[in-house]
Amino acid sequence: MSTSLPVRLIEKQRWLEPIADQLQPTIAAALDDDGSIGPTYANILHGTWLGHPLHAVLTDVPIGSWTAAAVFDLLEQASGSMAMARKADAAIVFGLVGATAAAVTGLADWSKVGRDRPRRIGLAHGLLNIAATACYVTSLCLRRVHSRRAGRQFAMAGFMISNLSAYLGGHLVYGERIGVDHTAGFSPPEDFFPVLAESELSDNELRRVDAGGMPVLVVRRGMRIYAIAEMCSHRGGPLSEGKLQGTLVQCPWHGSCFSLESGKVVNGPAVHPQPVLEVRVREGQIEVRSKR
Ligand code: FES
Repeated sequence: MSTSLPVRLIEKQRWLEPIADQLQPTIAAALDDDGSIGPTYANILHGTWLGHPLHAVLTDVPIGSWTAAAVFDLLEQASGSMAMARKADAAIVFGLVGATAAAVTGLADWSKVGRDRPRRIGLAHGLLNIAATACYVTSLCLRRVHSRRAGRQFAMAGFMISNLSAYLGGHLVYGERIGVDHTAGFSPPEDFFPVLAESELSDNELRRVDAGGMPVLVVRRGMRIYAIAEMCSHRGGPLSEGKLQGTLVQCPWHGSCFSLESGKVVNGPAVHPQPVLEVRVREGQIEVRSKR
């Protein structure tokens, strides 16, 4: 993958790894079933209830507010208008509230990205956001003691840092595919396609089969056979290596739970459902096709 200069620089920052090693499992444990936060709040933070990563929604608040603050600051500087000054201050406060919410949701998502490449970029993204937030808090304090010029300078520094951080956030989504639906390219056969002899599928077995080049998970529970996309929508984990809990399957990588009946996400970090396939048995063969 070709990468930009900021990303290449971050990849060289090995000092980030020990911080990530300490922080990531601590947050992940707090979000787990028996953790201090627990899965209900974890699902709220991930955006499982929304069907979309909540962090991506909230990041627009500080970016938009601080962009507005930069414009109001420039207008205040040019005109000396106190109305513009008040608007700039209010936009900074609004941005700080949004940044706090975005930080909490971002930490929850980051705790479940695994230990590979995006983890270091995600940590750098978070540290830059802390730096930007510190600049804006300092800016507000300076404005309160009537050092408006210095306050505007700190705000501009925060604005530049937050934009660099936003660039990394964009890279995590578009470059590293964090937060996207990893089943988006899943296109099973339109017509019924034989995948396995019925006699070869044991009860409660998680079996990966191939349906015209698409990996599919088939599971028999008594008289019923279920079929859903085998690659987890969160980051592509192999659901056939996960755990079966009744009619739920749990991903082995970061613990997302999906309903075999509907594909619905029961527990995150996944937010996108698993595609469900139609199943029938003909002449001793299990056949699947895309749901109509
Ligand atoms: S890949 Fe992360 S929960 Fe499945």
